[in-house]
Amino acid sequence: MDNLEQILQEAQAAFAATDNAAELEQVKARYLGKSGALTELLKGLGKMAPEERREAGARINQVKEQVEQALQARRDAIQQKELEKQLAQESLDVTLPGRGHGQGGLHPVTLTLERIERLFASIGFSVAEGPEIEDDFHNFTALNTPEDHPARSMHDTFYVEGGDLLRTHTSPVQVRTMLAHVAKHAHLERLPELKVIAPGRVYRVDSDATHSPMFHQVEGLWVGEDVSFADLKGVVSDFLRGFFETGDLQVRFRPSFFPFTEPSAEIDVAFMSGANRGKWLEVAGCGMVHPNVLRHVNIDPTRYQGFAFGMGPDRLTMLRYGVNDLRLFFEGDLAFLKQFN
Ligand code: DAH
Repeated sequence: MDNLEQILQEAQAAFAATDNAAELEQVKARYLGKSGALTELLKGLGKMAPEERREAGARINQVKEQVEQALQARRDAIQQKELEKQLAQESLDVTLPGRGHGQGGLHPVTLTLERIERLFASIGFSVAEGPEIEDDFHNFTALNTPEDHPARSMHDTFYVEGGDLLRTHTSPVQVRTMLAHVAKHAHLERLPELKVIAPGRVYRVDSDATHSPMFHQVEGLWVGEDVSFADLKGVVSDFLRGFFETGDLQVRFRPSFFPFTEPSAEIDVAFMSGANRGKWLEVAGCGMVHPNVLRHVNIDPTRYQGFAFGMGPDRLTMLRYGVNDLRLFFEGDLAFLKQFN
């Protein structure tokens, strides 16, 4: 049967000529498929005489097996080749420099807030917090700023639906902290001293190179039986010299007005060198807590007194790093922010 020998050789050659799996399966159909050459021969067996059929059947099946072996060998070869190709493409160049992970860093104002917290923690102040959406009582009324008080127009307030507001300063944290302190120690004959700072975001309708509608403040409060204006001056001056790491920083307390303090002052600093040399720059407001504020939080003003201050950490950050536009802090420009880390 030359024909069978020929089919085998042809099939082997055809398999060898393919170089991918899909093509190979198509070629396979020509020999082993439903109407493939070998299948047709097998179908023809039925017409043969029994003697002839047995012999022919055995030979066809033998060739069929050989064709299947050749097919499997080619399949393996193609698979191996494809695997090698894939490995070559995916090869890892261990000499390339690593991509690395982007490293985050702290915002300059956050660095300042941490610095402020550290300096005050070193003299016994803890950190207090309050909500950014405040009510009229805590933001104004309890701070001795009644409904028609002219000081309310000093603040351009963002109101939210329902009459609450975005706090215009961190001073309402004074009120919340004192109320909580009084409630906590109601059972004691003598109210323990209260020393806190309250850093946080505040909001006002205002926007230019030195004002942002959202900015930061740090409130300070020290209430006790004999806390004086001298303590206020000492604490704030020491803090400012520590903050700027400048022993000869000039600090001045200038008489001013706030409804929640009496007497009140504004605090200015002057540097003896650098770009701002000799210029007075305002950094905080302060004063002795007004007796009306103490009464609002059920503290007896004839027995206790205290001082409070509110400073602008954004301004402190600008001075410390020599930044001249406040808006840079809040634009999220990485090129700017990366300089601080
Ligand atoms: N809350 C004032 C403001 O935002 C700042 C301030 C002034 C806070 C005097 C104080 C203070 O605690 O005693 O303008």
